[in-house]
Amino acid sequence: MAATKAATLRLIVAALLLIAAAAADTYTNHTVGGDAGWFFDSTTNKTSADYSAWAANTTFNLGDYLIFNTNTNQTVIQTYNKTTYSSCIIDDALDDDTFQYDGGRNEFGSAMTIDVALTIEGTQYYFSDASDGEQCQQGMAFEVKVGHGLGLPPSLNQPPPPAYVPPPGSANDEGHSPPATVANTPPSSNHAIITGASFSVSVLLGLISLLV
Ligand SMILES: *[C@@H]1O[C@H](CO)[C@@H](O)[C@H](O)[C@H]1NC(C)=O
Ligand SMILES: *[C@@H]1O[C@H](CO)[C@@H](O)[C@H](O)[C@H]1NC(C)=O
Ligand SMILES: *[C@@H]1O[C@H](CO)[C@@H](O)[C@H](O)[C@H]1NC(C)=O
Ligand SMILES: *[C@@H]1O[C@H](CO)[C@@H](O)[C@H](O)[C@H]1NC(C)=O
Ligand SMILES: *[C@@H]1O[C@H](CO)[C@@H](O)[C@H](O)[C@H]1NC(C)=O
Repeated sequence: MAATKAATLRLIVAALLLIAAAAADTYTNHTVGGDAGWFFDSTTNKTSADYSAWAANTTFNLGDYLIFNTNTNQTVIQTYNKTTYSSCIIDDALDDDTFQYDGGRNEFGSAMTIDVALTIEGTQYYFSDASDGEQCQQGMAFEVKVGHGLGLPPSLNQPPPPAYVPPPGSANDEGHSPPATVANTPPSSNHAIITGASFSVSVLLGLISLLV
């Protein structure tokens, strides 16, 4: 009996090590459009890749990143609002469902790489609103369905910053519309999510304590 127990323990420890090793590296960075990147040719009005087909052929999970290899002639807008996505512009977008990622530069044609972490499960949308939405209308747009996968890694599972409180005396500008966009920071989730690896480890530790 003692020998069986020891053998079982060794098996469990081996399984535990295997799971830790397998889970450690399972988040994926997806380069949008593959080698073609995220570009629009304003002479031919053509996108450098078929982004809808690319996204439909890719599996996205929490903790993955989208990597946009692009330049400042394109923008990267992330939205959770299908109306905003379909409109191809962000003039009426809401601060809490639409985010603009950019390099903070104004000149045309400067290379930039934009990394977007996928931190919320479900459907989200991306487009370029450059040229008053024309790039988006011509195909600079795609939809992503984010699955749970391993859940958020601890590095992305930070609580959001505290809500902005307007200073006293600035409360009576209700007639003003909010700024067209949009926070520069990606949304983050404060759900307590443990990763697949740490979950498996705690389950197996529980099994071990039952055995010994
Ligand atoms: C994925 O991209 C993020 C953000 O740039 C980076 O921190 C991370 O190291 C990358 N992971 C891999 C496996 O390349
Ligand atoms: C590209 O689109 C613009 C604006 O809609 C139009 O003026 C131009 O003729 C188009 N060019 C080509 C090559 O289709
Ligand atoms: C889908 O992805 C696979 C594997 O990455 C690739 O071989 C295939 O060409 C892709 N299909 C399309 C339509 O992009
Ligand atoms: C989506 O965005 C539009 C503006 O583009 C806004 O009018 C609408 O209220 C938003 N929908 C939701 C569900 O927040
Ligand atoms: C960027 O856009 C400007 C203005 O439309 C154009 O002159 C330039 O050729 C573009 N650069 C690149 C690298 O696409």
